[in-house]
Amino acid sequence: MPFPEERPRRLRRTATLRSMVRETQLSPTNFVLPLFVRAGKGEKRPIATMPGVFQSSVDVIVAQAREAWSLGVPSVLLFGIPETKDAVGSSGWDPDGPVPRAVAAIKDALPELVVITDVCMCEYTDHGHCGPLETRHGRTDVNNDATLDLLAKEAICHARAGADIIAPSDMMDGRIGAIRGALDDEGFGEIAILSYAAKFASAFYGPFRDAAESTPKEGDRRGYQMDPGNRREALREVRLDLDEGADMIMVKPALSYLDVIREVRDLVDVPVAAYNVSGEYAMVKSAAAAGLIDETRAMMEVLLSIKRAGADLILTYHAIDAAKALG
Ligand code: PBG
Repeated sequence: MPFPEERPRRLRRTATLRSMVRETQLSPTNFVLPLFVRAGKGEKRPIATMPGVFQSSVDVIVAQAREAWSLGVPSVLLFGIPETKDAVGSSGWDPDGPVPRAVAAIKDALPELVVITDVCMCEYTDHGHCGPLETRHGRTDVNNDATLDLLAKEAICHARAGADIIAPSDMMDGRIGAIRGALDDEGFGEIAILSYAAKFASAFYGPFRDAAESTPKEGDRRGYQMDPGNRREALREVRLDLDEGADMIMVKPALSYLDVIREVRDLVDVPVAAYNVSGEYAMVKSAAAAGLIDETRAMMEVLLSIKRAGADLILTYHAIDAAKALG
């Protein structure tokens, strides 16, 4: 037969036809906007490595959250830049710290907006690791079990301020169980945990560490974050976190781990989130600024790929721009 019988192109003929048969749709309700909060008033400091992203004081954060909400983005994720750091990260559970103050201010202004807080020690320790260090036989490492108590304190501090969801990003073993137990003991049984369950030791966190001022002074995070080669181990981490009480699961980064997102989606029945991380954002921004790609189209294609891979929620610095593009 000279001509093909199967003609998929019939359904690509017009924009309306294409939109009718599109399998994956993005919506602003899929997005969570990460925000960096610092002390002060009227502060909106640009982050050189992340164009369009700022370190903001609480008043400015409320305005940013309001813009997100008005565009249909239902949630923000807060990271803190504290005024002081020490070896154990004690500013991480200071009720007057930037994160608890921002949580309270946002919930006051926008009670329906879902506030997620990142729970980790690396923004608060002077050495930049995700928990207190100990040296044994000449090797320095994060003390896993000592970290659990500190994460629980930080989580409770955020819960007291009014956080809706606690998102631990440290990758210590047992942290979901420790945080769940502490929240329940304090009467915060209703607060959900979004676990950064499969978080890989990635080069794509570079710009974030400038933004959050959390680059490790020495060494790296490979002793606690996952090795990029490991798929089965990601599923194991997910199972453990669900057993310990996680309500939602995150894969991070997103773009180099789309296969992992798909496998996690197929494994679990809880919501799956994926973090379109700082380096992924910076790549799109810098390639667009250099005139190499169309920023809006590239951004939407990236976000669509993450959703198509199986993510229900996408944590992304593009949230405002993408919501506008969808509007
Ligand atoms: C803290 C944390 C990191 C990110 C989120 N929480 C950095 C890291 O693990 O070094 C990265 C987010 C991003 O790159 O956008 N542990």
